[in-house]
Amino acid sequence: MSVLVTGIGELTTNDDELGTLRHAAVVLDGDRVAWVGGAADAPDADERVDVAGRAALPGWVDSHTHLVFAGDRTAEFAARMAGEPYTAGGIAVTVEATRAADDAALVANLRRHVAEAVAQGTTYLETKTGYGLTVPDEVRSAVIAAREVDEVTFLGAHLVPPGWSADDYVTLVCGEMLDAVAPRVRWADVFCEAGAFDAEQSRAVLTAAARRGLGLRVHGNQLGPGPGVRLAVEMGAASVDHCTHLEPSDVDALASSDTVATLLPACDLSTRQPLPDARALLAAGATVALASNCNPGSSYTSSMAFCVATAVLQMRMSVAEAVRAATWGGARALRRERGDGAVGVLRPGARADLHVLDAPSVTHLAYRPGVPLTHAVWRAGRRYR
Ligand code: NIG
Repeated sequence: MSVLVTGIGELTTNDDELGTLRHAAVVLDGDRVAWVGGAADAPDADERVDVAGRAALPGWVDSHTHLVFAGDRTAEFAARMAGEPYTAGGIAVTVEATRAADDAALVANLRRHVAEAVAQGTTYLETKTGYGLTVPDEVRSAVIAAREVDEVTFLGAHLVPPGWSADDYVTLVCGEMLDAVAPRVRWADVFCEAGAFDAEQSRAVLTAAARRGLGLRVHGNQLGPGPGVRLAVEMGAASVDHCTHLEPSDVDALASSDTVATLLPACDLSTRQPLPDARALLAAGATVALASNCNPGSSYTSSMAFCVATAVLQMRMSVAEAVRAATWGGARALRRERGDGAVGVLRPGARADLHVLDAPSVTHLAYRPGVPLTHAVWRAGRRYR
């Protein structure tokens, strides 16, 4: 079944040759993009959808979420807004609620959040384990996530659970836990931060994960300067996420590496941290991604449009830079930006992930912040709205 989406007033492709097209059309065939070009030259298809001059772009690629969870942390958020600092200690509250929830409750909660994201134009989604922190609970989170999202990351090293010494827990993660979870996930991550895991503990987790063939990601430099970025670069991680507190040497290390700097501005706002210095990263030549970090503690939003608007309005990214970071950048952070079935890009052979805005240009994403602008979404060729 093919669909011709035509009458696109402005089409962002993220393809180096196609660029941004006016008066454009896209043909989706099954779960792939079959054709991209000027509307006047478009081939026939089984179905025709005229979007009447609206802007279209690749679906958002949300490369950082924590959606296998139960429970609620409204009270923690309210206390924070009243002046309490964010310490990540609340992770333990979600761990307790997640362990107590049955599978059906976890699946329902995950599906609700994925549906919420897709309705806002997110078409490719990563999520993490990390609220289980026992072997069976981490396996359960990975199994549930793998059924519902595109990419799963093992984050057994999210926090040292109560009752454990850090060294004993790292030994568990590096051995029995990774043995059990690794076959079910593509990525491993570690929260390298004061109060979570130090550089040596984080290196041990990443080394053990790499030995089992997993790709690497790091939570780093979220709550203060630290070794996370340097470690991620040293270990060849695909992405280091947060990057809120960067030294000039961190920026230089990222710029001379293949590690993507994934910025999570909704988290920084919700935890009253400064916003990351996207301009320094871009000026140095680092690859930047934007992601929601949707989780019940530090960033309870699934809105990539909110992240884009914040990046433009408060981090001085251009609209083009922010849109690219939330689409192609996320795909690059997940190493899915190339080849057959690529995401974050519209070209023949890419996955049929298309987001049509109720606006004539992507500029409206920042010009009209907070306004729901998603008009239509195709995810792997299936229309969701
Ligand atoms: O990415 N930094 C660590 N992990 C999450 C927070 C999770 C939570 O507070 O529940 C993050 O912000």
